[in-house]
Amino acid sequence: MNIGLIGSGGREHALCQKIFESKFSKKIICFPGNAGTSQIAKNIKIDILDFKEILKQIKFHNIELVIIGPEEPLVKGLVDFLRKNKVKVFGPSKYASKLEGSKAFMKNFCKLNKIPTANYQVCQDKKQVKSFIKKNNLPLVVKADGLAAGKGVTICSTENQILKISEEIFKGKFKSSKKVVLEEFITGEEASYFVIVDKKNFKFFGTAQDHKRVREKDKGKNTGGMGAYSPAPVVNKKLEKKILNKIVKPTLSYLKKIKNPYTGFLYVGLMIKKNEPYLIEFNVRMGDPECQVILPRLKTDFVKIIKNTINNKLKNTKIEWNKKKCMTIVMCSKGYPGKYLKNRLIKNLDKLKLKKIDFLFHAGTKSNNNKIYSNGGRVLNFTSIGDNFLTIRKRILKLMKKLSWKSGFYRKDIGWKIIKKNENN
Ligand code: AMP
Ligand code: GLY
Repeated sequence: MNIGLIGSGGREHALCQKIFESKFSKKIICFPGNAGTSQIAKNIKIDILDFKEILKQIKFHNIELVIIGPEEPLVKGLVDFLRKNKVKVFGPSKYASKLEGSKAFMKNFCKLNKIPTANYQVCQDKKQVKSFIKKNNLPLVVKADGLAAGKGVTICSTENQILKISEEIFKGKFKSSKKVVLEEFITGEEASYFVIVDKKNFKFFGTAQDHKRVREKDKGKNTGGMGAYSPAPVVNKKLEKKILNKIVKPTLSYLKKIKNPYTGFLYVGLMIKKNEPYLIEFNVRMGDPECQVILPRLKTDFVKIIKNTINNKLKNTKIEWNKKKCMTIVMCSKGYPGKYLKNRLIKNLDKLKLKKIDFLFHAGTKSNNNKIYSNGGRVLNFTSIGDNFLTIRKRILKLMKKLSWKSGFYRKDIGWKIIKKNENN
């Protein structure tokens, strides 16, 4: 079948690779894709929020199945729009996407369904902010209610900082919403848990650990993600049971009950404190770069899983995983996450000697006259699978060093918390 894929990041290149490997796929069309996807699919330059143009292209290319990577088209209702136009599409509805699209919605949803999460208040003015500060200890977490491209969360250790950041959000710093969610700060270990969901059932779809800060030892500014590994050892069987019973099942049951069943990938962002899971965030899609470490471990035909999910046949679909571990390190353009170098030539990519255990996923890249240039802050994802994280990391770092891209930088300590704890990890 012809398959359409929406998005242009490393996540989408990893998805594209799995679609390419499927026995069900004929032609893959990426909207708009990147230099990596262009090697295995047809890229079409398009604004991914121009739903009518997307529909036109879907019809023109006889696309029978559409998979959506990023959050923005989901939150803005692309799934509902395509379904109304009789296109088969994988992803959650506009309503269900509010779990990511509005932090206020998500927190109220948690309260209603008794899902463990940080104490919070949705604030619309300074008075409400001050009242929450009075009742809680510092630090506190200030969050913009709506989508903010990973820039909406600040951990604040002073009252002045909380007031300043809240004020900026009230004044419309983020176009998506002027509301603020104030939260207590939870200390613990972070982990991400993924499920794939159809109207009737759900199945486990991996665990991973992202590294959001730009500098080593998790210091510096927040980014989209500087590297990840899978599986996340912190999620053991006992904890998994709690995650399912306290978070995943109540969420999916409630949405079913109110006749808005969830479908698609659900990303459960957690903080683990004293062996108890607290929900930090829901994302209504795969993570980026988490997807790049989960998909290489998937053994089952990816398109078969997606087809069965769309047809609500997930229950009898066996999803098999490789027992090996996977890590990805993100090569960024110098300056990221601030103002970064743009449009820089990346030489020698084709000279890297990759083995079957290596995957070079492109993120912000574009090709021009057979040459590859950077086209974003996060540029390449060097990914490998193996038996332990320390060896995998050494292998990836060697490859990155070989590329020797002068405009790039990367963290050399991905996995530092678990590698330090246990050299066998
Ligand atoms: P979010 O966009 O909600 O995932 O927040 C970004 C990052 O901020 C998370 O990955 C956590 O590291 C941190 N964070 C968010 N909320 C909290 C919280 N209530 N307590 C501690 N850390 C948090
Ligand atoms: N890596 C974090 C995210 O995809 O939201």
